[in-house]
Amino acid sequence: MSETIGSPTTTTTTSAEIILRIKDLHTYFYTDIGISKALNGVTFDIPSRKVLGIVGESGCGKSVTALSCMRLLPRSAKIPKGEITFFRHKKNGNGSAAPVEEVDLLKLDTMSQEIRNIRGAELAMIFQEPMSSLNPSYTIGDQIGEAIILHQNVDKAEAENRTIKILDQVGMSNPKAMVKRFPHELSGGMRQRAMIAMGLSCNPSVLFADEPTTALDVTTEAQILDLMRDLQAQLGMTIVFITHNLGVVAQMCDSVAVMYLGRIVEQASIEPIFYNPKHPYTKALLNSIPHAGSREHKRLLPIRGVVPDPYSSIKGCPFHPRCNSFMPGKCDVNVPATVTVDNGHTVRCFLYSDEVEQQ
Ligand SMILES: Nc1ncnc2c1ncn2[C@@H]1O[C@H](COP(=O)(O)OP(=O)(O)OP(=O)(O)O)[C@@H](O)[C@H]1O
Ligand SMILES: [Mg+2]
Repeated sequence: MSETIGSPTTTTTTSAEIILRIKDLHTYFYTDIGISKALNGVTFDIPSRKVLGIVGESGCGKSVTALSCMRLLPRSAKIPKGEITFFRHKKNGNGSAAPVEEVDLLKLDTMSQEIRNIRGAELAMIFQEPMSSLNPSYTIGDQIGEAIILHQNVDKAEAENRTIKILDQVGMSNPKAMVKRFPHELSGGMRQRAMIAMGLSCNPSVLFADEPTTALDVTTEAQILDLMRDLQAQLGMTIVFITHNLGVVAQMCDSVAVMYLGRIVEQASIEPIFYNPKHPYTKALLNSIPHAGSREHKRLLPIRGVVPDPYSSIKGCPFHPRCNSFMPGKCDVNVPATVTVDNGHTVRCFLYSDEVEQQ
């Protein structure tokens, strides 16, 4: 991982409503077959104490965005360019808000004590595949308890009490027995709940939930979504909810960022995205899903073509080869800049502005 020298922290009194600011983030993987440009200038703000959805087709960079923020990328990855600022809100002893501390996450060494303190306690993640992130040789209780002991300075007995409480909160039946179980002894739904419990165990400021319910049946999925929404409201945490399911976004999120090939192409609150989408990609995504309760009998329209592979580079707007509004001589020449079309509604498309992204 490339490191920049300099102090990672400064204090500020601004940005009370933003918890993470990601600016022009580029994440590349250096592999035997070439450079996979997974993120090509991701820019967006994550609002504090809200649920932000990140949507987009498979391979567009949703997980890599979260892993970049957590500083959990594999060794083959480099971040050649970009900024990730964490606006850390601390409380004074008397409960009043202290000035916000700005932490430049990309300046922290991935092995440093500071990033370890932040990870788990302040920024946590529920991984896309629970079986690959739960250790098969430790009990659920030991794995959740370990994070609590590490970050909350309590002894083993107290960590177990807290683990049982959090397992109960995530709707696990008989949590006292569950702490003694190994991951393979649980059903898929129980493992998901254990992952959610682990993510929530230290009451983080930001929780990245990467497709936390994809592997579940619809009934369990609905229960888990309700539960996460309730816990978010109770604990006032920020959730970044990663999914390719727009129905889940409508149910869970306050706002949504739409990703295509390593860039955010549109961001707005839920209503404008669903009722007044701007980017042709967002429109195409919405046309490809059924609308419950709709009286119109509209055909579902799959998006033609596939997400191009990240080893190749496309000149101009990366969506232009699949776009119904493609303007030759414009969309295949430059990359559109992100512009604001309405209060808090941003889009990257030449249909709305001729502004070009500065490379
Ligand atoms: N370890 C890696 N080595 C090489 N390329 C990688 C690696 N991890 C991810 N990528 C590439 O980065 C791009 C973005 O991947 P990412 O996992 O973020 O997609 P995603 O949007 O989360 O997709 P999905 O919905 O399938 O989970 C993909 O093209 C992927 O192949
Ligand atoms: Mg993913």
